[in-house]
Parts: sequence; C-alpha cells; structure tokens
Amino acid sequence: MQDEKVLPEASKKVFIKTWGCQMNVYDSTRMQDALEQDGYAQTDDMADADLVLLNTCHIREKAAEKVYSNLGRIRALKKQRAETGRPMTIGVTGCVAQAEGEEIMRREKAVDLVVGPQTYHRLPDIVARARTDGPQIDTEYAVEDKFAYMPLARKKQVQARGVTAFLTVQEGCDKFCTFCVVPYTRGAEVSRPHAQIIEEARSLVDAGVREITLLGQNVNAWHGLGPKGVEMRLGELLFDLAGIRGVERLRYVTSHPKDMDDGLIAAHGELDCLMPYLHLPVQAGSDKILKAMNRSHTASEYLDIIGRVRAVRPDIAISGDMIVGFPGETDEDFEATMDIVRATDYAQCYSFKYSMRPGTPGAEMHNQVPEAIKTERLARLKNLLTQQQAAFNESCIGKVIDVLLEKPGREANQLIGRSPWLQSVVVDRGLGNIGDTVRVKVITNNPNSLLAEPV
Ligand code: 5AD
Ligand code: SF4
Repeated sequence: MQDEKVLPEASKKVFIKTWGCQMNVYDSTRMQDALEQDGYAQTDDMADADLVLLNTCHIREKAAEKVYSNLGRIRALKKQRAETGRPMTIGVTGCVAQAEGEEIMRREKAVDLVVGPQTYHRLPDIVARARTDGPQIDTEYAVEDKFAYMPLARKKQVQARGVTAFLTVQEGCDKFCTFCVVPYTRGAEVSRPHAQIIEEARSLVDAGVREITLLGQNVNAWHGLGPKGVEMRLGELLFDLAGIRGVERLRYVTSHPKDMDDGLIAAHGELDCLMPYLHLPVQAGSDKILKAMNRSHTASEYLDIIGRVRAVRPDIAISGDMIVGFPGETDEDFEATMDIVRATDYAQCYSFKYSMRPGTPGAEMHNQVPEAIKTERLARLKNLLTQQQAAFNESCIGKVIDVLLEKPGREANQLIGRSPWLQSVVVDRGLGNIGDTVRVKVITNNPNSLLAEPV
C-alpha cells in the first residue's frame, strides 16, 4: 500500500469545470491531485474558489465559443472578488487551451493561465507564477515524460471515487484521421511505463477499487518493456494486471482497428476478468470515405476484426463511433455506413455529424456536405442504432449475469451495479454490499437500466 503523504492544511479552494471525454475527466482529477498536494481543497461553488480551471474539449462542438461565454461570466465574478481582497485566479486547460493558446489570453483579459494537456504536472508552479508574475502560457509538449511526474492516485481520493476507476496508460495519437484535432492538441502517442501502471493498479485495488478501465486516446497502441526487459503490447499488459490480486474486472478504451493485434484479441478469449465489451470505432462504412478520413483500414478489415473477436468471445458487446456527412459523402457512401452498422450489430454506438475542425485536412476539403443532408442522415443512423441498442438490452432478459455493485439506488432498498456490458443494473439491497460482485438474473429492461433478482 502507498504511504499517505502529509498534506499541507487546505487553505485555498479550486473549482474545475470539465468538458469532453473520459481522458479529460481523468485529467481533471489528476489536476486536483496535483493541486491538493499544494494545499488546495476542491469546491463545487465557483464563487468561493481561489482558482477556477476550465478543462476544455475541442473535438466536436463549438467548444471554444462555450469557453469564451463561460469566461465572460467568470470575468464579472473575478472583478467582484478582487474588491473583497481575496483574488481569484482563472485558468484554461485542455485541448482548447492547446489549440488557441495566446488567442485566449488576447481575447479574454481575465485569464491568468493557459495550460495544455501535456504539462499538468507543472500546474501548481504555473499557478504560483501567475499570481506573482502575471499571465502564464504553457502549451509546450513536455520533453520530459509527463507520466513520470504524475502523482499516484492516493487512497483517500480513490475511496471517494468508489469501486471503479480509470487508469491512464497511453496518451496522444499518431493516426491523423483527417477530421480530428486530437493529434494536434494531445501530441504524439506516448505509453506509460509498465511498472508505473502496475503500481497504480495495486494502489487502486488496495483502496477498494474492483474494476479498472485503462484509458488512452489509442489505448491499444500501448507498448512498453515488461519486467524482464521484453517489449510487450496491451494484450500482455492485461495479463499482468489480471494477475494482481483484487483486480476483478478490466476494461480499456478507446481503440483503433489498426492496433487490434492478435495478442489483444487472444486476451479477450483467455481472460475472464477482461469484460466482454469492446469500444472499436470505425467512423464510416464506405472505403472511399475511410480512405479520405485516413483511417488506414477498409470496411471489410474492420468486420474481419469484429468477427475474430466474436469468435474467441461470443458474448462480447461491440460499441463504436460513427460520423455522417464527412466531405464527399454521397448517398451511396452513407448507405455503406448503414450497412456496416447492420453487419456489426452494435450494443451501443455514438454518432455525430461531421464538424469542421480548424487546422485539420477535413476543414480544407471543398466537397463539404450541406447541413440539411447531415441532419437527415444522422436521424436515420440514430434510428437504426437505437433499435440495435434496444435489441441488445432486450436480449439480456432472462440471462444470469455477474453484477459489480457500485452505489445506492434511487429507492432505499436498492443498489445499482454494472453488468459485464456496462449497463446499469438495479438489484435488491439485501443481495450484497457495494464492491461485491453478485450473480443475478435479469428480469426487465427499463429505459436506462436492467432490473435483476437473485438467482
Ligand atoms: N466531427 C465529428 N465527429 C468527430 N469526432 C472526432 N472529430 C470529429 C469531427 N471533426 C468523433 C469521432 C471520434 C469521437 C471521439 O468523436 O467519432 O471517434
Ligand atoms: Fe482522432 Fe483518429 Fe487519433 Fe482517434 S485515431 S484520436 S479519431 S486522429
């Protein structure tokens, strides 16, 4: 177990607002960890904070605009607080910070610091410098390994987070899909060292965590040297994590088809604790569009991977991401997207209208699809995906499944847990305690959860 460090008495408060993906949520907790060691307590009341951080996402919506409108409101708050003699420091972090950097400082004078996702370990220093020396920008890609500076998740914080936890093992992306800003905002693919991952996993289970989700923009691109000095990939890392006593469930998100190697597919067949759920986005079904997206695989190569995973783990649920209206997408291309969705049969899939991201090749393409067509295609796709998801949930009725109990339910006599396929499952409180895995039979499928009873 890890030593509890003696923390300075919390005398300052930090408020963090988070947009975007799980990676960003995880980064926010890591910023909190780093700041807590510097004497900051967390607050849910922005008006009472000494430090306000907006952890931004740049991937789809008009995120930058949202940040500016939030900053407008915060500016007024900052002014009021300056009059009380307890100043407020304002920071913008995350992918918008990385992409817009100086522009943010220029447009919004209330901002004291802008920090990109690669340098959170320097946050306490940057905040201190902003207080004494004025506005600070740090959007360098850190030459040092960012992971080396990450404080490990500490027991007290883990307990507050419950029986499931995220563990970042990889960051960044070298794939350069032509619609996506991630390679520009998050930088190149970096893997966290094996020993550090194992150490953090151990401290998580010591603190009561039973299910660990490995995180990375391209989590299955993870590679590193194992304890014997031999190069290994994600499949082998999963075996090592599965060997830690107390690790009951493993998941990983999010993956690229190109990195779905034989070892990882085999792990799905061999490791019971690797949950039968795979998020493997394909984005489109037409080979022409996949090529224009620079996805580096065809539709049939994707379906082949899905077939191989299902062969070793027949109960696996597949989830994905789809984009409609990428530049040049014809009706026929869109039908190919509907076809690949039918062929894959998703348990869950996110779908988006293509949105132009400045600085990406897609934004320069001349054959943009009109908004009305995107809207129509998205509605048709969503309709199909909703049917597939409903059919998947329906197929669970009558099954005997293991549920990891996570939290109290809405009713006093209920607990809520997760199925192997990430569905919320409501059970009777008498069945066990939070943190237990119980075997139950699914009896009904409610809109947002399954209801189960003792076997
Ligand atoms: N437009 C629409 N969707 C996008 N995504 C990423 N960039 C864009 C964009 N420019 C989607 C992809 C990705 C998910 C996280 O967000 O489907 O897998
Ligand atoms: Fe973006 Fe493609 Fe990298 Fe995923 S793989 S983060 S979609 S560039």
